[in-house]
Amino acid sequence: MSQENKISVALFGFGCVGQGLYDVLNHSEVLQANIRKIGVKDPSKKRSVDPTLITYDKNDILDRKDVDVVVEMITDTDDAYQIVTTAMKNGMNVVSASKKMLATYFEELYRVQEETGKALIYEGSAGGSIPIIRTLEEYYDNELLSSLRGILNGTTNYILTRMELENKDYGVVLKDAQDSGFAELDPWMDVAGFDTLYKTILLSVHAFGVVLKPEDVLNLGIQNISFADIRYAKEKGLRIKLIGSAAKSGDKFRIYVMPRFVRADDELYKVLYEYNAVEVEGAFSCKQTFVGKGAGSHPTGSAVLSDVSALTYNYKYAYKKLRKLEKQNNGKNPGSAALETDFSIRVYIRFADKSDLASLDIRNVIEEYKSPEVNFIIADVGFKSLFALKGNRDSKVFVAEV
Ligand SMILES: NC(=O)c1ccc[n+]([C@@H]2O[C@H](COP(=O)([O-])OP(=O)(O)OC[C@H]3O[C@@H](n4cnc5c(N)ncnc54)[C@H](OP(=O)(O)O)[C@@H]3O)[C@@H](O)[C@H]2O)c1
Repeated sequence: MSQENKISVALFGFGCVGQGLYDVLNHSEVLQANIRKIGVKDPSKKRSVDPTLITYDKNDILDRKDVDVVVEMITDTDDAYQIVTTAMKNGMNVVSASKKMLATYFEELYRVQEETGKALIYEGSAGGSIPIIRTLEEYYDNELLSSLRGILNGTTNYILTRMELENKDYGVVLKDAQDSGFAELDPWMDVAGFDTLYKTILLSVHAFGVVLKPEDVLNLGIQNISFADIRYAKEKGLRIKLIGSAAKSGDKFRIYVMPRFVRADDELYKVLYEYNAVEVEGAFSCKQTFVGKGAGSHPTGSAVLSDVSALTYNYKYAYKKLRKLEKQNNGKNPGSAALETDFSIRVYIRFADKSDLASLDIRNVIEEYKSPEVNFIIADVGFKSLFALKGNRDSKVFVAEV
């Protein structure tokens, strides 16, 4: 803390989240913060703040002695990693919202926290405004959690909701979502399930202590969905949601991202448009669902603000579950060895031609439907074989768990 008894912060990134944080910080009646500098990239952009606050040189911030907290909200994963690790090594606590960076480099970031004793906290990286990471970390620290499921990406939930409620096809709604700022011009990270994957990996650390690499966890998205799939769901009284899930299975975990048909009595069924939800199931608490705005400037800014505020009382994650798992595993996190991948999963698969299914280990066909417009099967499929579809831009099949 600085002499004026205000927390002294520097921001990296002044885009959607950075400006959101700036606004909520300026409206906070409780948290007194001094913003020392704002690091950005593009000198040609006009800024809405005092130009002396802006810097294009990261060392202008990282070498300062009067900054308590660095708040990292940039889009470049490798630069974000460099900024976050250097800040901790230079004695600063860090708040980050960059889920891809956090999930990709989690092991290294955990080590730097251990070495430096500095805090790295990241509530804004998963679930938008829902305070889920600290809830898993604090409230559920002793509870035996059995599973966690979430709608973790506002863009895809917005697209799925509008397709269903407005009877529109994917391309039309995606274009509309891009025009109105609900989807990026390049929507791949969202629609192919990567954004949900990074968040699911971070939530799995705090729910179960398991540290996974993005390449080891299956993510299937909604990029190949068509209105035919939505119509099929509607006829059965179901909805399709993109869900990140992590569940205990004996000593192992089933962790993956996949579209799923959900029933009307499922809490996630009611979660519409850009809202996110996380359902946690514990041995004693049973099911609890947390719902809130999943992304955007102010909702994410408020989660980041809450982290900055937590640092004023020296908060850091205790990582109790991670430490326990390491202890049980000779001092090392089991990582992907803790993943169960050898099981059958029942899925709906819509395809154009039977050859589209060649890479899949189809074990048992439950239902088959063929028409000039639509072909689909419902089948039990070897889970591992679905990895052939992960991030596969050539595949045109749509898969959803039933
Ligand atoms: N948008 C959301 O709702 C949301 C929600 C949760 C988490 N996040 C995460 O928060 C981070 C920021 O997202 P955003 O939506 O705010 O992105 P954005 O609107 O595109 O803004 C990105 C900001 O990062 C700056 N930047 C990029 N590379 C940089 C570098 N190498 N050095 C310094 N500054 C750099 C940009 O600088 P210029 O201004 O100079 O271009 C810009 O100010 C991302 O990791 C994202 O995944 C976003």
